[in-house]
Parts: sequence; structure tokens; C-alpha cells
Amino acid sequence: AIDIKALRSATGLITLDPGFKNTGSCESAITFLDGEKGILRYRGYAIEELAEKADFLEVAYLLIFGELPNAQQLEKFHSDIKAESHVDEEMKKILDGFPKSAHPMGVLSSLTSALIAFNPSSVNVSSEQAMYHAIVRLLAKFPVLVAWTLRKKMGLPLDYGDDSLGYVENIHKMMFKKPNREYTKNPVAIEALDKLLILHADHEQNCSTSTVRMVGSSHAGLFASISAGISALWGPLHGGANMAVLDMLEAISADGGDTKKYMAKAKDKDDPFRLMGFGHRVYKNFDPRAKIIKKAADEVLSSLGVEDPILEVARGLEREALEDPYFVERKLYPNVDFYSGIIYRALGIPVDMFTVMFALGRLPGWIAQYREMRLNGEPIGRPRQVYVGANHRPFKALSAR
Ligand code: ACO
Repeated sequence: AIDIKALRSATGLITLDPGFKNTGSCESAITFLDGEKGILRYRGYAIEELAEKADFLEVAYLLIFGELPNAQQLEKFHSDIKAESHVDEEMKKILDGFPKSAHPMGVLSSLTSALIAFNPSSVNVSSEQAMYHAIVRLLAKFPVLVAWTLRKKMGLPLDYGDDSLGYVENIHKMMFKKPNREYTKNPVAIEALDKLLILHADHEQNCSTSTVRMVGSSHAGLFASISAGISALWGPLHGGANMAVLDMLEAISADGGDTKKYMAKAKDKDDPFRLMGFGHRVYKNFDPRAKIIKKAADEVLSSLGVEDPILEVARGLEREALEDPYFVERKLYPNVDFYSGIIYRALGIPVDMFTVMFALGRLPGWIAQYREMRLNGEPIGRPRQVYVGANHRPFKALSAR
């Protein structure tokens, strides 16, 4: 058995592992994944079962507290969240200060950080009760910020939601309710949204989650750590991939749908183009989330009666990649983001909001990981380096340079 205590206090040997491809940063009991076998489980429950049988709020509870809630626990959790759903009016001024063209991920990260100023007590997570309070506050207010970010983008007046609705249903309302019209429930859209959020809810020590744990390891508050996680998620090699996929599919479609041409570009080492939505750091056979989401995309598009020409492009790329030795040898398969954008688009979500939707789904995972890190009393994250710069040099005066 590994002596974790000894490892924690070990000094001396430094390993160099850029990108942490083979280095564990923590012990965690939240998410299990086996990249070779394509297995993903939250707290021991298979993602396939959770996506089919649970709703997003139950999954959030499971990830954060370790057990599926019973009816009473779920009811209390939801009502505690509802009691915290008000976002300070002053926050709207901050939102108004952004130009309409601002990237929604920058807006969301800033607003999440700004929440701290209006909820200063949330920084204190020293007791289990204080931690719980910070958690329900964030689960309550974050969807409001997401909805505001979307409505600003779409030029719609802000909406506060309706506490009589379910958690995801209310998110859907806050995002899409048309001004001066009753909100009409769209069960197909809500179910699809719920599933997408569940599939994105946690994925062990990925870039944004590691960021949340790293920032939190300095004992920065939950909201500050999650704001940093949002920035990490923004990049096109991580959460930003879902936007990049849609941009790519649209570009291929506009260019006549010649998928072979783009396959060739992706394989050309002198061309920086990569097939977005293909490949994964950990899944080297298939991404189990991609399987679920592909089926969901087909169902949603047919239920909503959407005929999207980019779906043909997506299917063409997938078909060709599965038979292409370059992709097969490197074990490059469609990942979750290859299909999620197609569903978001069918739901009427603008492309540059896709990564925000990913953040909304990932929120419970980030919270669970932050809580676990703090409860475990993990030390401050501080990687070492192998210095390869200049040796000692005598200083040269400005006049002599
Ligand atoms: N298109 C073409 N070639 C690729 C692709 C791709 N999408 N992905 C990897 N490769 C190639 C690399 O060029 C490399 O080839 P080489 O061995 O000949 O040099 C080989 O496959 C291995 O790739 P790495 O970049 O070393 O793999 P890594 O594990 O570091 O990267 C990553 C994984 C970032 C996901 C990568 O596959 C990629 O850039 N994919 C496209 C972006 C994307 O979809 N990101 C979303 C990830 S999922 C998520 O965040 C939810």
C-alpha cells in the first residue's frame, strides 16, 4: 500500500511531468474514470444510469455530499437553494458595464467573482454549516448569472425565475422566457438540458477542476476558486472546445461540406488545424458521455423537428475518422463536446454561450472537489520545476547594454 502520509511530507526527488500526464495531484472519492475501458462513475454510480434515471439536482447532491439524497433531503436541499436565489440589484450594474460583444465566459467569471463582494460571509467555510451555506448560495445564484449573461447577449430583459419550478426547469425559464409572455414549459428541451448538465457535472482532475483545487488550496473562498475554474474552462482545448466544434462544423458546411478536405488538414502536421471535438487526454477508446449525448442529440433534434445541415457534416467526420488509420492509431474518437453543441444549438443557445452551459453543468463537480480538498486539509498546491535558464550572470548597467 502507498504510504500517503510519507508521500505528503516527502522532499528531495523532483519528477518532471509537463501537463501532469502521469502525476496524481490528490486522493479523491468523487469520480472514477477508466480511460481505456470508457468507464465514468460519480461516487460509484455509472454515468449511463445517472443520465437516464436521476435529475441534475440529485446528481449535484450526490457529487457534493457523497450519497444520493432521499426525498426529504432533496426537498430540503432544493428549498435551501430557492431561499438564496436573489442576486443583489447592484450586480446588474456590473453586468450593464460590459459591452454586448463581451465574451460570456469573461462576463460569467467576473460576475462570479463580484458575488463575493455582495456575499462576504460565503468566504468562510471553516465549519460544515458555513460550507453548506456557501454551497447552496452558489448553486442558487450561479444559474441566475448564467441566465443574465445569456439574456444580455440576446438583448432580452433580465428575469428572476420562479421558485415553484424545478431546478433545471427554472434555469430554462430564466434563460428563455420571452418578455410579456407566459413561460411555456418545453419538456423535451428541459430533459435534454438536464441530461447535458449531468454529463458535464464532474470529470475528476481536469484542467478547470485542478484549477479550482489549486486556487482553493491557498484557502481562497469557494466563489473565487470557481471563478478561476471558469477561466480555465474557457480555453479551446478544454470547455471552449464545444464552441470550436460548432464553428468548425459551420465552416465546413459553408465550404461545401467537403469533410475529406478537413480530415486531410487535421492530419497535416504543418497545418495547425485540429479536428475539434476529437481526442481526449484520458479516454483512449471512447468517451462514454459521447455515446449518451449522441443518442440524445438524435432524439432532441427529431422531437423538436430540427433539421440541421451541420449534423450531416458531423456524421461524415465521425464516419471517416473511425476508418482513418491516423485517427485509429492515435485513438482519437469524438468526445462529449462533439455532440453537445448540436443540442445547444437546437435549444436556441448562441454558440458563444456553449462554454457557459458547460460551466453550469460543471458547477457541482467544482464545488464537490473544493469541499473535498478543504475537508481533507490538503496542503497548498505548489509544483516544483526543473530550471533550464541562464546560469549566474553579472549585472550589466543600462548604459552598457
Ligand atoms: N485532430 C488531429 N490530431 C489530433 C487531435 C485532433 N483533434 N487530437 C490529437 N491529435 C494528435 C496530435 O497531433 C498528436 O499526434 P502526434 O502523436 O503525431 O504528434 C496525437 O494525436 C496525440 O495528441 P496530444 O495533443 O499529445 O494529446 P493530448 O492528450 O495532449 O490532448 C486533446 C488531448 C487536448 C483533447 C487533443 O486531442 C485536442 O486538442 N483535441 C481537440 C480539442 C478538443 O476537442 N478538446 C476537448 C477535450 S474534452 C473536454 O475538455 C471536455
